[in-house]
Amino acid sequence: MNAVYEERLAKIRAVLPQYEDERRLMHTMGVYRECMWFAKNFRLSEEDTYTVAAAALLHDITKNLSDEKAFAICKEYGVTPPEAHTVIHQYTGAPFARELFGKEIVTDAVFSAISCHTTGKADMTETDKMLFVSDFTEAGRKYRSCHDMREYLHGECDKINKNDKTALSHLLNDITKRIIGFTVTYLVEKNKKIDAGMILAWNAMVSEA
Ligand SMILES: [Fe+2]
Ligand SMILES: [Fe+2]
Repeated sequence: MNAVYEERLAKIRAVLPQYEDERRLMHTMGVYRECMWFAKNFRLSEEDTYTVAAAALLHDITKNLSDEKAFAICKEYGVTPPEAHTVIHQYTGAPFARELFGKEIVTDAVFSAISCHTTGKADMTETDKMLFVSDFTEAGRKYRSCHDMREYLHGECDKINKNDKTALSHLLNDITKRIIGFTVTYLVEKNKKIDAGMILAWNAMVSEA
């Protein structure tokens, strides 16, 4: 990545510990490393590499906020609070990060990736999908399902010629769809609410496949 992008990432890294405790920072760095794995294996442009790097670093920046503060941010930015409480930080994270760092660091692509990293959405871009997947497959996640998805993704990627854009894009859709499908099933089994964004994401992946 060029010096301008590196400088922007350094600005984010410098303030992140003010918003995330050690445990969350470990997860954030895990997501960052997984996004860098995507950047390398999917041969992303410098711009897209910056997008996934910045989005990874910022994705959980509002996760430690109280519900009260989160709802206040929703109100301030005109965001409709989601039904499922666990996903509220994806909707607050993007506007919060943009206010903190400005539009040059939190570009539209970074904003988009943060704001759908937990649920997905209809019409996800490739960088949206990479953050969504990395949040699930980062090496620090100890759940069996996360481990299995990671093994599958990395194993399948090893079999692909990295010049074959179609095969890479197919794998990215495949893993995104698997994670959405797993999560929807899990939520149904646990009798938990499913965010509308996740249903839209599932429907979009079914028509793309
Ligand atoms: Fe998150
Ligand atoms: Fe996360």
